[in-house]
Amino acid sequence: MYRSTTCGALRASQIDSEVVLSGWVHKVRDKGFVVWIDLRDRYGITQLVLDQERTPRELLERSRELGRETVLQVKGKVIERASKNPNLPTGDVEVLVEELNVLNPSVLPPFTIEDETDGGEDLRMKYRYLDIRRNPVKNNLIFRHQVTMEVRKYLSEEGFIEVETPYLIKSTPEGARDFLVPSRMNEGQFYALPQSPQTFKQLLMVGGMDKYFQIVKCFRDEDLRADRQPEFTQIDCEMAFVEQEDILNTFEGLTRHLLKEIHGVESGDFPRITFDEAMRRYGNDKPDIRFGMEFGELNAVAQHKDFNVFNSAELVVGIAVPGGASYTRKEIDKLIDWVKRPQVGAKGMVYVKCNEDGTYKSSVDKFYDQDDLSKWAEVTGAQSGDLICVLSGNTNETRAQLSALRMELAERLGLRKPDEFAPLWVIDFPLLELDEETGTYHAMHHPFTSPKPGQLELLESQPGAVKANAYDLVLNGNEIGGGSIRIHDKEVQATMFKHLGFTPEEAREQFGFLMDAFQYGAPPHGGIAFGLDRLVAILGGQETIRDFIAFPKNNSGRDVMIDAPAHIDEEQLKELHLKLDL
Ligand code: AMO
Repeated sequence: MYRSTTCGALRASQIDSEVVLSGWVHKVRDKGFVVWIDLRDRYGITQLVLDQERTPRELLERSRELGRETVLQVKGKVIERASKNPNLPTGDVEVLVEELNVLNPSVLPPFTIEDETDGGEDLRMKYRYLDIRRNPVKNNLIFRHQVTMEVRKYLSEEGFIEVETPYLIKSTPEGARDFLVPSRMNEGQFYALPQSPQTFKQLLMVGGMDKYFQIVKCFRDEDLRADRQPEFTQIDCEMAFVEQEDILNTFEGLTRHLLKEIHGVESGDFPRITFDEAMRRYGNDKPDIRFGMEFGELNAVAQHKDFNVFNSAELVVGIAVPGGASYTRKEIDKLIDWVKRPQVGAKGMVYVKCNEDGTYKSSVDKFYDQDDLSKWAEVTGAQSGDLICVLSGNTNETRAQLSALRMELAERLGLRKPDEFAPLWVIDFPLLELDEETGTYHAMHHPFTSPKPGQLELLESQPGAVKANAYDLVLNGNEIGGGSIRIHDKEVQATMFKHLGFTPEEAREQFGFLMDAFQYGAPPHGGIAFGLDRLVAILGGQETIRDFIAFPKNNSGRDVMIDAPAHIDEEQLKELHLKLDL
């Protein structure tokens, strides 16, 4: 028997019992006449003690030699600690060691296994198995498990069946590049790893499965960010005989269940806003509504004077920054530099200080009088003591720039509280999105999304205006889920492919299987997929999903621990009928 209990379990009630513990040597404190060892495992830390009075000399000497991270087994007696540690659940007791076995020695770890480690990101990723021994990472993985279990519990109780779908498939377009896998047995042919199980879950609906879910890996070859990994996990769901309302209610239920079970938070009905409204009020389709600072469009009250910058702009828009009137000139200049950084891209920023005495002081006093500025304050909801920040230009770009500023200021002002949860639905997304570079339209969600009833006719004349039965679930400024009601009619799907620029032959070649299936009684259906990594990170009060993935990739898509991707040898290339031309 390696252990009779764990390193997190012992309490005062176990005093005088004999125990066997196994774990890692966290720390050795050698005071000469007494040696204390912190023994650590997944469950906690237990203090071991050996001293001149009670421990055989040979054992005491051996204990001094133990290196950090040695795997150790001890037998001993639980005793009361002389000086208790209230910060440790096991802090009332210690184990007086009677027998000590080194199960495996350890070389010196490259960083300390402490909550606040001295190891940088790269080093911790290279030795991720050591990083996982640290509480912050370990606790995140345990937290992920809890969330996943609650998801499975809720969906199973709602009658959903978990079905696995294949990984070696044909491209399922979700807007990223595919990862490809060459086929040895089919010369010159490739599988694609799924960007999502989209087409398979739709085929499961044709198969009558009715309510499907799967906690599933998806693969997307796209640029990485804090909230993106090349392989990530979805809670993928689909239902038959449903309308948008049914899906929203079911998955609002799931989210509410998670907030309740994980955080004890009771949430009411989630707000719903349309995509257009989200863009107008927040400049963003995933608004963080934990705080205000909503956009105020100022065209009507700012384009009547001789200020050409505003007069020539498509959109003049501002936000009120709480307490910002007290910013110094230098602080405001820094803010202006911030919006002018290439990552944000604004040309400049106009500001108005709303003084405590009810007067206004702006950077455009030459053009606007107090009466004008009071109207700006009204439109942006600015109170005395606030600062109004105004950007102008092309609508889409200006909104994106002001949205970036809004988020940055909220962060600086501490308004993005990690323990506050503000979910909302964004609905009525456009069906198509214009690719500015190529001038062609592509599906904003994916090509299987159905237009809103009665909008199909607009596809020809006003493709950009067609709205979809598509929705996103947003939590604290992050898109954690997205889905749609699908097309289930072969003809409509064919029309959709045509508008996305597929020839009938291309559509058949890529998606013939789906169009064929639609001939055999496809039920009306729809669904959603949550990004599990994102959901877990946000529920955990963070935004970097890497910290909630056991073995993540770095920003160049590499696993630095196993050193992948890697070259393969000539023999393997030959077998796969591949020739490299580097
Ligand atoms: P979508 O592409 O919106 O929809 O993806 C669903 C959710 O998955 C998460 N996500 C990611 N998480 C981490 N890293 C990534 N690279 C990444 N990409 C996406 C997001 C996103 O909201 N098949 C559809 C769903 C459907 O229509 O039912 C789909 O995949 O949180």
